Amino acid sequence: KCRTVDGDWVYTARRADTQGSGKHIDSQTGSEGDFLHRTGGVMGAGGSWPRNPLELKDIFIAVKTTRKYHKSRLDLLFQTWVSKAKEQTFIFTDGEDQELRRRAGANVINTNCSAAHTRQALCCKMSVEYDKFIESQRKWFCHMDDDNYVIVPSLLKLLSSYHHTQDVYLGRPSLDHPIEAAERVKSDGSVSVKFWFATGGAGFCISRGLALKMSPWASLGNFISTAEKIRLPDDCTMGYIIEALLEVTLTHTHLFHSHLENLQRLPTDTVLEQVTLSYGGFENRRNVISIGGAFSLVEDPSRFKTVHCLLYPETDWCPSMGHH
Ligand SMILES: *[C@@H]1O[C@H](CO)[C@@H](O)[C@H](O)[C@H]1NC(C)=O
Repeated sequence: KCRTVDGDWVYTARRADTQGSGKHIDSQTGSEGDFLHRTGGVMGAGGSWPRNPLELKDIFIAVKTTRKYHKSRLDLLFQTWVSKAKEQTFIFTDGEDQELRRRAGANVINTNCSAAHTRQALCCKMSVEYDKFIESQRKWFCHMDDDNYVIVPSLLKLLSSYHHTQDVYLGRPSLDHPIEAAERVKSDGSVSVKFWFATGGAGFCISRGLALKMSPWASLGNFISTAEKIRLPDDCTMGYIIEALLEVTLTHTHLFHSHLENLQRLPTDTVLEQVTLSYGGFENRRNVISIGGAFSLVEDPSRFKTVHCLLYPETDWCPSMGHH
């Protein structure tokens, strides 16, 4: 979530800015007219682009975590969706952990960033994620948090409707209006810029074509200095580089979900079509998607196991449904 850090930039509600872009503000599910409300010159779903045979190996999925969540959060991810995307999922953390290393090997990256939940530490991790993605040669960069469930087939389907050489920035806007910040990179801060950004807690994706253009402000530690200049958190800094500096627009999608929204409001019959899900943390245990199935709320408080068994009923730990 992008918040006021030093008090020198502000959110400004300008409803007029959102009106031309259709119904995306009200759409919780992304089913309303699909997810293509603001396409930044990109050939979207159903466009004239030939169907792009995107494969799972073309995607680089970065999961941001911290040492204290290795057990409580990562175990659940390994047990569920990560098992369907082992090769392409990279864990970005801040401390060595032999058990995690044994489990995921070279797919665990110790960023050596601080474990503090500060803007600097979060930007430090994002900076390492970016560099590792560039190095990987893959077509798509997707950032996730350690409380996200990624519905891998939906992610593939969504990215298949774009081309990685185009400028694509896909995610859920965390506000219903763009944020405004003092422009301190291209000017002295006396002018302000308005831009949208994808909320990091819901996950977001960037095409390789766009990621390469971000390099002057994002690679090899430049992400940290860009964030320092504008004094914004990691996800806002992404939005700033992409929308304000490169003038590429965020493609708004409501198929991505963070724990900051009311997850109970997501219609049950659309859950499996979403791209990411999340669950409320310690403060808000009841904020989970409403879906029934294999496990009770006590057995599966996040609902991730239940979702996983609906998607992959053949999984060995899923109860066999409808055979009794
Ligand atoms: C973190 O530090 C270790 C030990 O110095 C080093 O091997 C590793 O490459 C560093 N990680 C990153 C992402 O720079």
